[in-house]
Amino acid sequence: MKNNFKQLETEVLNILQNGRPDWDIPHTLTSVYYMKKLLKKEAGNEKILITTMYLHDIGYSWIRGDLSTRDNVKKSKLDHMKNGVIFGRPILQKLGYSEEESKKILHLVGTHDNLDGVFDSDKQLVFEADSLAQIDIKRAKSNLSKDDRIRFINGFEKKRMPRFKTKTGIKLMNKLFKKAKKFYLK
Ligand SMILES: [Fe+2]
Ligand SMILES: [Fe+2]
Repeated sequence: MKNNFKQLETEVLNILQNGRPDWDIPHTLTSVYYMKKLLKKEAGNEKILITTMYLHDIGYSWIRGDLSTRDNVKKSKLDHMKNGVIFGRPILQKLGYSEEESKKILHLVGTHDNLDGVFDSDKQLVFEADSLAQIDIKRAKSNLSKDDRIRFINGFEKKRMPRFKTKTGIKLMNKLFKKAKKFYLK
């Protein structure tokens, strides 16, 4: 049976209007796009993983203050994951997700940006879809200043690139990264 994510998408887009300007909406939709692409080749539960991508960054919408600089975004890393769990729970309840499904999804939302430690296969796919959605300059163009873009792309190369594991993810990442680097460093 195909899952219908329409209602979830409507709820999430509403929330993301309060998120990082010109970023959270395109970035989130792009992360969903890449999760679907990964799941065509890699094994994983569609309902859990696509829902996780929709919810993964809603937490930024409750963070006050200026989120247009990379330093401030970095500082709110933990809070955006915590908020994602707090505000994601009632959405899942409302949409009829089971207790077990909610637990899995909220765990992924609450840990998606902790890059240390071992990744299980779900977390690996969430990491890859999120990361791909950070370097697709066509679908989600960075709103960062030039200096922050340079720091971002160098950080991506050091911290995110080596953590890609799936064949599909690595292939997509190599293609996108080349273009992103060119754009971010120009
Ligand atoms: Fe995030
Ligand atoms: Fe993200």
